[in-house]
Amino acid sequence: MKTVDLLIKNAGELVTLKGPNHPRKKQEMKNLSIIKDGSVAISDGKIVEVGKNLSCKADKIIDASGKTVMPGFVDPHTHLVFAGSREFELEQKLSGVSYMDILKKGGGIFYTVDKTRKASEEQLIKESMKRLDLMLLHGTTTCEAKSGYGLDTKTELKILKIHKMLSERHPMDIVSTFLGAHAVPKEYTADEYVDLIIHEMLPKVKDLARFCDVFCEKGVFTKKQSELVLEAGKQHNLLPKIHADEIVDTSGALLAAKVGAVSADHLLMSSEQGLNAMIQKGVIGVLLPGTPFSLMMSQYASARNMIDLGLPVALATDLNPNCWTENMQFVVQLACLKMKMTPSEAISAATFNAACAIRCNDTIGSLEPGKQADVIILDCPNHMFLPYHFGVNFVETVIKSGKIVSTQQ
Ligand code: NIG
Ligand code: FE
Repeated sequence: MKTVDLLIKNAGELVTLKGPNHPRKKQEMKNLSIIKDGSVAISDGKIVEVGKNLSCKADKIIDASGKTVMPGFVDPHTHLVFAGSREFELEQKLSGVSYMDILKKGGGIFYTVDKTRKASEEQLIKESMKRLDLMLLHGTTTCEAKSGYGLDTKTELKILKIHKMLSERHPMDIVSTFLGAHAVPKEYTADEYVDLIIHEMLPKVKDLARFCDVFCEKGVFTKKQSELVLEAGKQHNLLPKIHADEIVDTSGALLAAKVGAVSADHLLMSSEQGLNAMIQKGVIGVLLPGTPFSLMMSQYASARNMIDLGLPVALATDLNPNCWTENMQFVVQLACLKMKMTPSEAISAATFNAACAIRCNDTIGSLEPGKQADVIILDCPNHMFLPYHFGVNFVETVIKSGKIVSTQQ
């Protein structure tokens, strides 16, 4: 009988998400491949066996009776590194000032850019570490992080280097995205700034990021400008992502399909034509329900319609100073209660499909032999509790690459 490093046994529900290794859609999103009274055996940071009544000895055993065990959450859209906070904007928003009006008056993203440019590397690391700790505590074991609060070459590079440092120092795995095209800094016209991104920034940042993203929105970057940035990113081997159709439908979903984006994110206003184009080209829809929630909007992305059409959907926090949450459980709650996703769909979207949205599905996103042992133990009897009993943290133990990195027991 072999001896493994760690055995998690007798889970009330072992939610494995075993299934096809492509972004899951429709029926595939509903199938979580749950094993009742299931066990997971882990050695050398990897999952070695998953099933019922595993016959192995272990150096450490965790009894998960009555609990839910599942893959760590993957958060595929965050703006992790920023300085300061914008709590004072809430009163403006409550009195009816829109997100775009705040931005046009030099607040919003510009306020955070100013703070981030002035912040030292140590301060940014310290503030971001605290966010990563909270993410881990709430069950996220891998996240994507975007630059975009520099808007000049020096600060964009500083942020991307911090992503790398954080990933090395913190248990969280961080996948880096260059979002130089997050807003047009006041020193430039949009065309001039796009030129700077293409000719100066991209050649310098290319080795520090896996993806290139753009805020394609009315009053920010046009569809044409966004296309130029994403195509230039592709020349430097950066895979395209796009903030699309968040406030106004600017055909961002169509652009995502045209450039072959890995994901298009937000999608509140996307046309059915845009969504169908994404389906044709295999673009994943990353939905961020925390954003309309923080903006007190009544409209959310039409997740129900998207899934029924056949779009693979993922979920993310959008963690940023406007929509500040580290908690993917809360996102799952919003997805079900505000976007009518079922608990199974939301969990697929927050784990396996989220891993697909950052191209990490070969190693994470499900509990299958050979995959990285990123596992969370939740103090609830089944996965349906996650959106049902809301506003609490169910995560009791977090295991990252086979090591216990957080436990409440
Ligand atoms: O995805 N919409 C653009 N960017 C972020 C918000 C950034 C901010 O307001 O600081 C988003 O929602
Ligand atoms: Fe965002």
